[in-house]
Amino acid sequence: MLIFKRQADLSTYLKSVSEPKSIGLVPTMGALHQGHLSLLSESLRHNSVTVISIFVNPTQFNNAEDLAKYPRTIETDIAKIKSVNSNIIVYNPAVDDIYNGNPTSEHFDFEGLEHQMEGKFRAGHFDGVGTIVKRLFEIVEPDNAYFGEKDFQQLQIVKKLSKKYGPPVNVIGCPIFREDNGLAMSSRNERLSYEEKEKAAIIFQTLTAAKMQFGIKSVKEVAANVRNVFSELPGFELEYFEIADEETLEPIDHVVANKKYRAFIAVFVNNIRLIDTISLN
Ligand code: PAJ
Repeated sequence: MLIFKRQADLSTYLKSVSEPKSIGLVPTMGALHQGHLSLLSESLRHNSVTVISIFVNPTQFNNAEDLAKYPRTIETDIAKIKSVNSNIIVYNPAVDDIYNGNPTSEHFDFEGLEHQMEGKFRAGHFDGVGTIVKRLFEIVEPDNAYFGEKDFQQLQIVKKLSKKYGPPVNVIGCPIFREDNGLAMSSRNERLSYEEKEKAAIIFQTLTAAKMQFGIKSVKEVAANVRNVFSELPGFELEYFEIADEETLEPIDHVVANKKYRAFIAVFVNNIRLIDTISLN
């Protein structure tokens, strides 16, 4: 399996691959799970070359402890990639290969998408995501790039990034992979104990209950019910629950016909921050 540490070597290699070809890119921060691997399978189905990047991007962390504790498991990651397909190309750069001694973000205007939810609670996060994704798009020059709907706000922002700032890439959203108990798979789940993982099933159960109430109860009532669940739960702290327009990501207080809506949630489980989302209609 080809593993590149330096962008110069990766681009030289990609340019040498004979035409015609289509390149699929799966950007990740590693600690790979089934969700990540499903993005790889999707890319393999539609492209002659698939590249996965594994890079814990410092500029998108607004919390030094979160960055320090982010799981780094490159050896097992590579074994998992191999088990999917040994032709997948890995790009696993050091911070300097991306940031050349200056790990700072560019500033982007994502036309309001960046001010909601994750953007409200993680200052500078989407400038960091925009910076790394734009660089990866420039280095790999993919035709298609695969992102999970688990980070739905990120998916919408990356679509806007590619359209507005380039380079143009076909950005494809893929469904959320879940544990058997419904908990959305996440690299951060590695930091949960077995008991915490079992208890965290309440997050998806609550989203599912909200979906069942949506359209019957008012938006305010649905949100109040979600808040009640978490207010009584030891070890859990709800950061936000929003029902928002899927396109603009603006939270709503009443439903309008012919619009698509989604519920978004962020919860701390003993200081580990988990997010999830569900389509409502
Ligand atoms: P990371 O959290 O590693 O996620 C990499 C990709 O996997 C993202 O597109 C994410 O939405 C997707 N993903 C995560 N959990 C998933 C699940 N349970 N089911 C399906 N897809 C899932 O998101 C990032 O990294 C970074 O912000 C990145 C885009 C790599 C930029 O640094």
